[in-house]
Amino acid sequence: MRKILVIGIGTGNPEHVTVQAIAAMNRADVFFVVDKGTGAAGLNAIREQILTRFVKPGFRTVTIADPPRDRRPADYEGAVADWHAARARAYGAAIADGLGEDGCGAFLVWGDPSLYDSTLRILDAVRAEGRVTFDCAVIPGIASPQALAAAHRMVLNGIGEPLRITTGRRLAATPPAEGESVIVMLDDGGALATIDDGTFVWWGACVGTPDEAVVAGRLGEVRAEIAARRAALKAARGWVMDICLLRKPAGGEGR
Ligand SMILES: C[S@@+](CC[C@H](N)C(=O)[O-])C[C@H]1O[C@@H](n2cnc3c(N)ncnc32)[C@H](O)[C@@H]1O
Repeated sequence: MRKILVIGIGTGNPEHVTVQAIAAMNRADVFFVVDKGTGAAGLNAIREQILTRFVKPGFRTVTIADPPRDRRPADYEGAVADWHAARARAYGAAIADGLGEDGCGAFLVWGDPSLYDSTLRILDAVRAEGRVTFDCAVIPGIASPQALAAAHRMVLNGIGEPLRITTGRRLAATPPAEGESVIVMLDDGGALATIDDGTFVWWGACVGTPDEAVVAGRLGEVRAEIAARRAALKAARGWVMDICLLRKPAGGEGR
């Protein structure tokens, strides 16, 4: 039976890669690399660094071209379903053609596979199609909220309180309530504009990498600095990933 390992690699620092992940990578005969277009070249370059540093020579890589997605379809749900089906077909074909019956393949997933990553869902869809059978195992990695917390030397949740994780797109509709802690990911740069000035922010870009930038303070005081540092990183690197924790003070409490 084929085996697929879904391995979390952390958020851009090769030293995030765990001992368990290194052992798993060295069991793989084939690494499946998803080509999401030029914007993702920097991410795949870090994957290559990790393979060169931690994996014994002799492995193969198979590139999967991510099918293009219609971002402004007339029928949104239909277009998303079509895109998911196309991805499942592309992944299924790569596994069937690129991995022998008893082979071991691996996907190196940014951060941890459990958070805003589609690899496990796509592999479920591939299995549901029934064209190719395989076992699947997950090796966890350091996720970006953890890397952000480490960069700020902080605890993400208030004492005994929940933590909400959301996207930049959803933040305007559901801003932090009083006392609530909210992690914001997948922001295109506009999310903080919708949040009131008194909210505390702990922001980080490229966290865990040599280009790491962090800013903390009340939004009214640091919003412009965050925008400027984000723009500078994007101009210098061609891409930037950022994440923040927002906490709206309850009764004047800050952290
Ligand atoms: C597609 S999601 C992948 C998340 C990933 N699976 C994880 O565990 O962190 C990409 C988002 O993760 C966050 N992210 C990932 N790496 C980051 C980094 N090094 N610095 C800041 N944010 C990062 C950003 O919010 C980015 O938009």
